This record gives sequence, structure tokens and C-alpha cells, in this order.
Amino acid sequence: SPHLLSVDSLSRDQVDHLLRVASRMEPIAQRRKITRVLEGAVLGNLFFEASTRTRVSFNAAFCRLGGSVCDTTGFTFSSMAKGESLYDTSRVMSGYVDAIVMRHPEQGSVAEFAAATHVPVINGGDGPGEHPSQALLDLYTIDKEFARLGKSLVGAHLLLTGDLKYGRTVHSLIKLLSLYDPMRITLVSPPGLEMPSHLIDLVTSRGHRVEQRESLANDFSDLDVIYTTRIQKERFTDEMSESFNGISQDFSVNRAFLESRCNATTIVMHPLPRDSRPGANDLDVDLNGDPRLAIFRQTDNGIPMRMAIFATLLKVEELIEKDLREVRW
Ligand code: CP
Repeated sequence: SPHLLSVDSLSRDQVDHLLRVASRMEPIAQRRKITRVLEGAVLGNLFFEASTRTRVSFNAAFCRLGGSVCDTTGFTFSSMAKGESLYDTSRVMSGYVDAIVMRHPEQGSVAEFAAATHVPVINGGDGPGEHPSQALLDLYTIDKEFARLGKSLVGAHLLLTGDLKYGRTVHSLIKLLSLYDPMRITLVSPPGLEMPSHLIDLVTSRGHRVEQRESLANDFSDLDVIYTTRIQKERFTDEMSESFNGISQDFSVNRAFLESRCNATTIVMHPLPRDSRPGANDLDVDLNGDPRLAIFRQTDNGIPMRMAIFATLLKVEELIEKDLREVRW
């Protein structure tokens, strides 16, 4: 079966195709058209880790294409709590459902699961590994925002900041960006949470200009995109948890940073969730209401992109176009 486990499996043409299909899914995502193409199909949504956006938007995307969803969350829903292996769980599930979205705390676990199944598997996040559907919706967001602003990805300047070590969304995103024409990518992270060097090497080898900075206290007046991420404390070792006292204001994306260092068309993205607890300052709420804050346009874009992923993996792109009907509610 075709799977979506890593951005590594996608060519530039395939990514461009997914962007085009997502665009064609917009009337369904915006509730202007309906289709029942996936009537009778069942999605297994297996989330062994917490999720709001990925779990619910994959669920909604499958339902809006006419399918049904078995939605599960936590370890206790499955007999893995009784010691059943990923292999056995995978063999069993592929007899019950037609596609699977899986999130799991261990890197590589979704690929291990997919190797034993007969149905398409989508990686909804494997520990600090990858989150390919998030990166695809992020790229789709950048594409839409740039079209609105009359900008192009060629030569664009993007800042990736926050937890670049454990943030799986940035691991997938930087690989995806590397497929495109040369751009400038600046990386800023608290000490110890830097982007893995093999990913920097990959992007550099493809002709992109990558710079690592120690804080946000720099001139970013030519910046097109800020992509900030939450500190993934749940992935810290005990030693790191003890030594980490929260990130300093040097890494906070807020109104003061945007007003003093960026420009009127710099868009602000975040895969979310942002941490709203005291001491967390990955993305300040003082930017709520600023039109440059694209985070909720970004979450909305999850639906058409995830529909596009189902449409291509299940090979129903053309059928959807023919089946589109007016909304009756
Ligand atoms: N962006 C993202 O993966 O969000 P969730 O953890 O809520 O799915």
C-alpha cells in the first residue's frame, strides 16, 4: 500500500500535486459542496498520544469525503495495554479499516506499524521524528499567504524558532522546503534544542542558505515567515527537565518583536498547540487579532490538505470532482 510516513517519500512534483488537489478540496472544506465518495470506507484514527488538530481534522476530512471513522486515543483503548505488539495490532487493524492515521510517542513506530499492514498508513506524528501532513498543510498555508501578499517562495526568508530538536513538524517542514528553489532559512533555538545537524546539512546541500542564531535579538526586517514551535518538554530527558527553567524572553515571538524587528507582511505561523501556561512564551497572545498571525488560517488549511492526502492515497481525486453536489443544509 502507499503510505505517508515521511516527507522523504515525496518528490517536488508529488508535493506540488498535493497542493493543487488541496486547492480543489476547498469548496468541501468551506462547506459549500458535499461528496459521498468515501461512503462505506472506514478510517482508523489511532492516537497513542494527545492530539486536537491532527486527530479531529483527519476525522473531519474523512467524514466530509463520505467515510466513517473509528476514533481512538491513549494507550488503554487497545490491547497494546495488555502487551500486544505493534505488528499484531497492525495485522488486526488492516482487516477492519481502509486507511489508518497513527500517532505514537516513539520515533519509527508508525513505519514499523505500516510495514505489517495492507492499508495506507499516514504518520500523524512519531515522537520527535516527523509529522508530514502538518508540514504539507504548513507549505499549503505559506503558498496561500504568499499568493495573497504577491510574494514568491523563491528567495524567501523564513525563520524557524523554538524547539527545533524535538519539534517533529519543523523536521518535516525543513525537508519539504528543501525541495524548492533556494531560500534563506534562519534557525533560532534555546541552547540544547538546535535543529539536528543532518537536516541542516541536507538543506544546505540543496543550495539553501541556512544561518543559526542564538536569539531573536537581530534584524529580521526582510523576514517573510516566522514559524515558531512549542518547547516539547514531554520529550526531555530527566536531566534536561531539571536544568530547564523555561525559555527566556530572547525566544518569545510577541508584538514587541514583530513591531521592532520584522515588517508589515511578515506572517506568523505555529503548528500549535502553543503553551499558555505561566512561563511559556513560544507565541504570545498579544498578537491575537493581528492580521499577520496566520495560525488559525493554518489550522483551517488542515482540512483541505488532509482531504488531498486521502484523495491521492485512495486514488479518488477524479471521482470527487465528478461527485460534488450542493450543500442541502
Ligand atoms: N499540530 C498538531 O499536531 O496539533 P495536535 O497535537 O493538536 O494534533
